[in-house]
Amino acid sequence: MTVTVATTPYDDQKPGTSGLRKKVPHFQQPNYVENFVQSIFDSLEGFAGQTLVLGGDGRFYNREVVQIVLRMAAANGFGRVLVGQGGILSTPAASNVIRRYGAFGGIILSASHNPGGPHEDFGIKYNIGNGGPAPEKVTDAIFARSMTIDRYLTIEAADVDIDTIGETALGGMTVQVIDSVADYAALMETLFDFDAIRTLIGSGFRVLFDAMSAVTGPYAAEIIGRRLGAGEAAVLHATPLPDFGGHHPDPNLVHAKDLYDRLMAPDAPDFGAASDGDGDRNLIIGKGIFITPSDSLAMLAANAHLAPGYAKGLKGIARSMPTSGAADRVADALGIPLYETPTGWKFFGTLLDAGLATICGEESAGTGSDHVREKDGLWAVLLWLNILAARRESVAEIATAHWARYGRNYYARHDYEGVDSAAADALMAELRAGLGSLPGSTVAGLAVVSADDFAYTDPVDGSTATKQGVRIGFEGGSRIVFRLSGTGTSGATLRVYIERYEPPTGDLAQETPIGLAPLIAAAEAVAGIARHTGRTEPDVVT
Ligand code: G1P
Ligand code: ZN
Repeated sequence: MTVTVATTPYDDQKPGTSGLRKKVPHFQQPNYVENFVQSIFDSLEGFAGQTLVLGGDGRFYNREVVQIVLRMAAANGFGRVLVGQGGILSTPAASNVIRRYGAFGGIILSASHNPGGPHEDFGIKYNIGNGGPAPEKVTDAIFARSMTIDRYLTIEAADVDIDTIGETALGGMTVQVIDSVADYAALMETLFDFDAIRTLIGSGFRVLFDAMSAVTGPYAAEIIGRRLGAGEAAVLHATPLPDFGGHHPDPNLVHAKDLYDRLMAPDAPDFGAASDGDGDRNLIIGKGIFITPSDSLAMLAANAHLAPGYAKGLKGIARSMPTSGAADRVADALGIPLYETPTGWKFFGTLLDAGLATICGEESAGTGSDHVREKDGLWAVLLWLNILAARRESVAEIATAHWARYGRNYYARHDYEGVDSAAADALMAELRAGLGSLPGSTVAGLAVVSADDFAYTDPVDGSTATKQGVRIGFEGGSRIVFRLSGTGTSGATLRVYIERYEPPTGDLAQETPIGLAPLIAAAEAVAGIARHTGRTEPDVVT
């Protein structure tokens, strides 16, 4: 029986870069989840009798919210919900299920790479029928609705068994519990040459994948462990845990330090990789060499034709603005367009739908293609393995050859976390106010040639996004970008992206911090990071 429950708005349900993210206790406030979910449903039209996909990364509170959403979906008139077994679907797997079954949309429960647990982070994100994150016009509508909401709809019913594959009736709706891995693994088999990768691994090539106690464990165990024959021991931390074992499930050199150390050891495996809480990010480390996400995007794009799914070549490459220009040089060489978008995967959706871009990537360890509408951690790992199987060279050899041909974009991102929000806003405001006078000036000995606040017009639907990050360009192609994170849950995070291009004839084997030192000094000089935030060192360098 449908029940209409009176509620009052919360004023902080504005979705960020990737859905609504807050601490678990925040989500546990009365009606907090219900308000947001009803605001999603109230912002959509035409879903009566249609299918919704539901799943999450298994973090703390995932199972409870699955039950809330199921009851509300039934009350709001959905015909069917496809829910991953145990409430589990990685973000790319959810995107695939939405597309494969022609669902109206999907709700993904995740706070990505943020920590999980009773006092850590939770998140809710809505994806549209193309399988991708809701565009801003939808998230704006959800937020507007959340500010006026006065009731939500649910039904009185017991919890549904979400652990057994099969169908259950819930009100007038059907809940169908699906295998979380099967459809995704099948999709990967269509894109990559599993035989070639199996042969590579069979010949003694050693792979180590760190699932970080997060959602990709079951996916990697099935695909890398079983189908590709690497065995159980090839997948570390393969069991998803509600608190990710107390760690940050963020595949970077700070939080995947153990993996990094193993790949730098004398007896290192040939290839190491990791993925994040919800399975959309990736970290790629070869024996003795870390590949930055920006370089990985460029190297994958340059070699993608070696995988069957991309044998016909790429239509275009898209990258977020702060991502390095390494992929631009590949696009140039391939004679295909390069699209520069604001930060966040949602900006790639229109380009992928329109067939303008095939491969997309972000400096924040996100890479993906038109096979789904999310970034996809395991996809990147499998494309690397396919390339390694085809070229029969090491990761280091592939990287060195790449830089020798295209030049090298030395790159680092400095994050200042938990900064006082007012101080961070003041820093950005001051930077923006000074933009006009920067070109032609010299900062810490470096000549500034351009300075602006990135604005974007979507070439497909004409939608615009402004204030997407302050960019300062220097003579010789070096660049510093400043922006504030849109995914944090406490205070502000200042991100400073630093990049320097070294042509093929230059020194391609420098240590990154040394290569970037003059620019790091310029970042401080131009933005006054220490003056505004009191910080003299970043918290995380990736
Ligand atoms: C961060 C990354 C961005 C990514 C997003 C979601 O957003 O920088 O590239 O799309 O997480 O994974 P930010 O916190 O910078 O807004
Ligand atoms: Zn993620």
